[in-house]
Amino acid sequence: MNILILGSGGREHALAWAVLQNPKCDRLIVAPGNAGIAQIAECATLDILDGAAVVAFADEENIDFVIIGPEAPLALGVADALAAAGISVFGPSAAAAQLEASKAFTKDICAAVGAPTADYARFDALDPALNYLRAQGAPIVVKADGLAAGKGVTVAATLPEAETALRDIFDGTHGRAEVVIEALLTGEEASFFCLVDGDSVLPIGTAQDHKRVGDGDTGPNTGGMGAYSPAPVMTPEVEARALDKIVRPTMAEMTRRGTPMRGVLFVGLMIDDGQPSLVEYNVRFGDPECQCLMMRLGGQALDLMLACAEGRLDAARVRWADDHALCVVMAAQGYPGAYAKGDVIGGLDGMPEDSGAMVFHAGTAEREGAITAAGGRVLGVTARADSLRAAHDRAYGLVDDVDWPGGFYRRDIGHRAL
Ligand code: AMP
Ligand code: GLY
Repeated sequence: MNILILGSGGREHALAWAVLQNPKCDRLIVAPGNAGIAQIAECATLDILDGAAVVAFADEENIDFVIIGPEAPLALGVADALAAAGISVFGPSAAAAQLEASKAFTKDICAAVGAPTADYARFDALDPALNYLRAQGAPIVVKADGLAAGKGVTVAATLPEAETALRDIFDGTHGRAEVVIEALLTGEEASFFCLVDGDSVLPIGTAQDHKRVGDGDTGPNTGGMGAYSPAPVMTPEVEARALDKIVRPTMAEMTRRGTPMRGVLFVGLMIDDGQPSLVEYNVRFGDPECQCLMMRLGGQALDLMLACAEGRLDAARVRWADDHALCVVMAAQGYPGAYAKGDVIGGLDGMPEDSGAMVFHAGTAEREGAITAAGGRVLGVTARADSLRAAHDRAYGLVDDVDWPGGFYRRDIGHRAL
């Protein structure tokens, strides 16, 4: 079959890599892709936020199946446009993508079914929000509604910090002036990935990421500086509780409301004393969590995504190996602030590219045959092994072989589990 993947990050490189392991894939196009993806698949220039343009391209290229990587096209209804044109697509409708695009929407779904999540209130004006904040006191969490690329959340230790965050939101900094104010959850965070087609839910793996830029979880938040899978805190008991109390009831509520979720549900959990609470839903794979998941799933990832898109999940099974994967993100100095582009990255030519190690590209470009840095997060060096320690050592061994003085990485990926 002919397959089109939308996106250009490390997540999409990992998806492309896994899809290509599956003999069902005859031809793979990634739009827009990056320099690493271009080494394994065709890349195409296409406005992936424009549903009509994506449908026209898919028609022209005889595409049988489209996998949508990032959240922005989902929230804009690109999956709806493809489905309306009769093209099989992995990724939810715009209505179901509200689970990620709107914090308030997800909170209301949780409230409707009694799924454990932090107590909250929502406001669309500053004064009542300030009154509520002062009545609650700190610590407290302030979340701008709408897609904010991880930047709309303030975990405030003090009331003045929380008030500043609120005033920023109602100043129009985040576009839409709607806010969720919620209680601080404590415990250990983990991510749980499930494929969902209406009511059927199929767990496909757990992971933990490292959001802060610096070693020891210090410095500003990023898109993620590394990840590992599985997450030890997600024991079978915790997983069963998360499914029974959170994932299945909320997905059933989505179906009941006429907006069934179809695609991958990224369940952000806080686990305290074995009890999971929902921090957030996303409707796409995490980046760099996806790099770990794809290394562990390999070619069956395509079969699972097809089963999900075609509504056959209840009969689908995941074949598990008792393995571990770990991804170290290499980023440009300065990220998540301003950073330089254009550095040539050396040492990549001799790297292994197999089922145990891959250097996934995120922000890279090709210039006169050389790979150059073209984004904040640039490479995701990923290894798989029988133990987390062995995956860790292999990934860091490969990081050492990358010749890029303008880059940096965290040295402690996986520390909580090791
Ligand atoms: P979100 O975009 O909702 O995932 O929030 C981003 C990050 O903020 C999460 O990954 C958590 O680390 C943190 N966070 C969000 N909500 C809470 C909460 N209620 N309690 C503690 N931490 C939170
Ligand atoms: N790594 C976190 C995310 O993809 O949202």
